[in-house]
Amino acid sequence: MTASPLLAVRDLRVLIGGRHILHGVDLDVAPQGVTALLGRNGAGKTTTVRGVLGLVPRTGSVLLDGEETVGLPTHTLVRRGIGYAPEDRGIFAGLTVAENLRLAERRGADGPAYGLVHELFPELKRREKQSAGTLSGGQQQMVAIGRTLLNGNRLIIADEPTKGLAPKVVTEVAQVLERAAEAVPVLLVEQNLAVVRRLARHCVVLADGRTAHQGEADGLLGDAEATRRLLGVGRGPLAPFTAEADS
Ligand SMILES: Nc1ncnc2c1ncn2[C@@H]1O[C@H](COP(=O)(O)OP(=O)(O)OP(=O)(O)O)[C@@H](O)[C@H]1O
Ligand SMILES: [Mg+2]
Repeated sequence: MTASPLLAVRDLRVLIGGRHILHGVDLDVAPQGVTALLGRNGAGKTTTVRGVLGLVPRTGSVLLDGEETVGLPTHTLVRRGIGYAPEDRGIFAGLTVAENLRLAERRGADGPAYGLVHELFPELKRREKQSAGTLSGGQQQMVAIGRTLLNGNRLIIADEPTKGLAPKVVTEVAQVLERAAEAVPVLLVEQNLAVVRRLARHCVVLADGRTAHQGEADGLLGDAEATRRLLGVGRGPLAPFTAEADS
């Protein structure tokens, strides 16, 4: 990575219930576009994200635009501009699309960026009165990502947004993320390598709670042996946007 990273994680460690879940995660998030965070099930991807957000006790260093954030509480990190779309989307099913977005508004100098959200996802405008529980999986992801774009965030973290979705919807969500990343850099936890190949320039691979690889996404995905060793994915071409692994 040539430009200085937006987020620089060094030797991140997380201990939960006496068990070392992370023992040395290093990761740089590029200041533009999508950086992918990869690894097999249980490698520590979600815990890394939760550590960055201060949702679990952590040690090490996490610099956001050069400023140390380890030790800061989650609400401060959120105010400093980290938007989070969690693994389960965190949508309020009984509320409308508009209500879900309104609940995500934060007080800020410029006010919530509905213009940007509706420009990127016109479907959310069309469906603003629809109850979120009746949306498709892809549309719910638009709400989850849209919420992170409302508040002028500096970084969006999305945890497996394509997990469990049908291949056609995976394509839809990949397009959503591609558009979002034009506005704000994204750290994308993803197991679908076709999505990674399409969206990410840089990638970081975790194994057993540590960083096992960091580099250009093309380099890793073009290396069948490394891909198999690090991610346990077999040889052969990856069909575009087919759900893989546990999806
Ligand atoms: N709160 C917790 N208490 C105990 N163990 C935990 C806790 N959270 C995570 N773990 C364990 O830590 C390891 C890493 O979990 P994590 O959820 O970070 O992995 P992941 O890479 O996100 O996996 P997946 O691909 O399944 O989402 C797993 O073995 C998990 O069982
Ligand atoms: Mg996870």
